[in-house]
Amino acid sequence: MAGEKILIVDDEKSMCQYLSIMLRKEGYDVKTVHNGKKALQEIKESSLDVVITDIRMEGMDGIELLGAVKETNPSLPVIIMTAYASTKTAIDALNRGAFHYLIKRAKNDEIKMVIRNALDLHRVKNENMFLKKQLKKKDDFKEIIGKSEEIQGVFNLVNKVAETDSTILISGESGTGKELIAKAIHYRSGRANAPFVSINCGALPENLLESELFGHVKGSFTGAIRDKDGMFKVASGGTFFLDEVGETTLAIQVKLLRVLQEREIIPVGGTAPIKVDVRLIAATNADLEKAVKEERFRADLYYRLNVIPVVIPPLRDRRDDIPLLVEHFLHIASGRSGRRKTISREAMELLTAYDWPGNVRELENIVERACILQEGDEINVEDLPDKVRHHSQERRKVVMQETQMTLDELEKEYLVSVLEETNWQKKKASAILGINASTLYRKIQRYGLSQDRLKDQ
Ligand SMILES: Nc1ncnc2c1ncn2[C@@H]1O[C@H](COP(=O)(O)OP(=O)(O)OP(=O)(O)O)[C@@H](O)[C@H]1O
Ligand SMILES: [Mg+2]
Repeated sequence: MAGEKILIVDDEKSMCQYLSIMLRKEGYDVKTVHNGKKALQEIKESSLDVVITDIRMEGMDGIELLGAVKETNPSLPVIIMTAYASTKTAIDALNRGAFHYLIKRAKNDEIKMVIRNALDLHRVKNENMFLKKQLKKKDDFKEIIGKSEEIQGVFNLVNKVAETDSTILISGESGTGKELIAKAIHYRSGRANAPFVSINCGALPENLLESELFGHVKGSFTGAIRDKDGMFKVASGGTFFLDEVGETTLAIQVKLLRVLQEREIIPVGGTAPIKVDVRLIAATNADLEKAVKEERFRADLYYRLNVIPVVIPPLRDRRDDIPLLVEHFLHIASGRSGRRKTISREAMELLTAYDWPGNVRELENIVERACILQEGDEINVEDLPDKVRHHSQERRKVVMQETQMTLDELEKEYLVSVLEETNWQKKKASAILGINASTLYRKIQRYGLSQDRLKDQ
């Protein structure tokens, strides 16, 4: 990969010049300094990929510099160079963690090969570190649940597009699973072993977002004390997930367009573009088409992002998924407490009837909360929050107001609503209805309602 940063440390200026001309020709980004102290400063301030240092220098020598690098930046490979071959110094350097040992008279090809190997090692080490971190986030390996036609349509699309490198725009209300789907696409793609990097565009002020995305060069603003790679560079080879893309300012949108068109970025305060190799997945819970009409979102960026639209329907439009999701989250929550909990039929009915403005995330939270509240084995209606319990009554009222009903239908509706309100308590319900318990039984039978739900007290 071109553009990797190499630092050359040598008090002999002609050597620095010779090496930097040769390596720049190879496409590397080369910096030279003439003593160990300056080198350490550079190592602290910029993100380097390899250091090549002379051994014999005034002040701090190459071996000391190597020791300091191993302390501050252990994964950065250091190549030691010297005018004369001496087995003792070579072994010494390697023992102290140098990547390799080069004689200044070495052929260009040998020098290039050693550097290439050092860079490869550095990249692999970084990737390993990243992967280890990712493995810790077990979040990335979450199962995706759903059997409704609507969600199966989404899954099919995910499988089809994962292998391609196309840009994807995922839209859906908050909590519908946009990030989960983005990760599923990444882990099913050829980029699965490279990073999945996500950033929430709505969470950061413009300046910060810009420098997080594209990186910055030292001194480009107060506080920029060293070069910093942006997330686009960190995601190199992988997938970049731009969450809440509708929240970006027009200025950032211009820069994102550049990424999509030219496949390159310019760090804040920098001048030279850097090539990036990422697949872009964007997500939004806002209506981007409307934002385009209102000129809050650039049309050209919208069309570039919306190559493959993936729309995740809200949970209330795919109620078939609710029982499966409830069981799934019950299973997870029970795993934590050690005992497998079940849910009563009535509670499940209420959950299926509720409209879920916060979608799957809200469902997940409510099931988890119920598991904590209920110490026994079965989740009941009482373990659900009021908004869920009262929702079905509200809906029934609306239905009754909207439709013309026969007297029988009206009686049935009223009966059910009183039963729900009293939590199917026989005594309370009969008292409100002004009938005795056996008449209540008869009516329940007549309207085909379940007697098992009645409670004695
Ligand atoms: N189909 C599903 N199966 C299992 N879990 C799901 C499913 N959909 C969503 N979830 C879970 O619901 C929660 C919310 O999902 P996610 O964060 O992906 O939603 P989002 O659309 O990105 O939300 P927001 O817009 O608020 O960022 C997560 O814990 C996720 O694991
Ligand atoms: Mg999200």
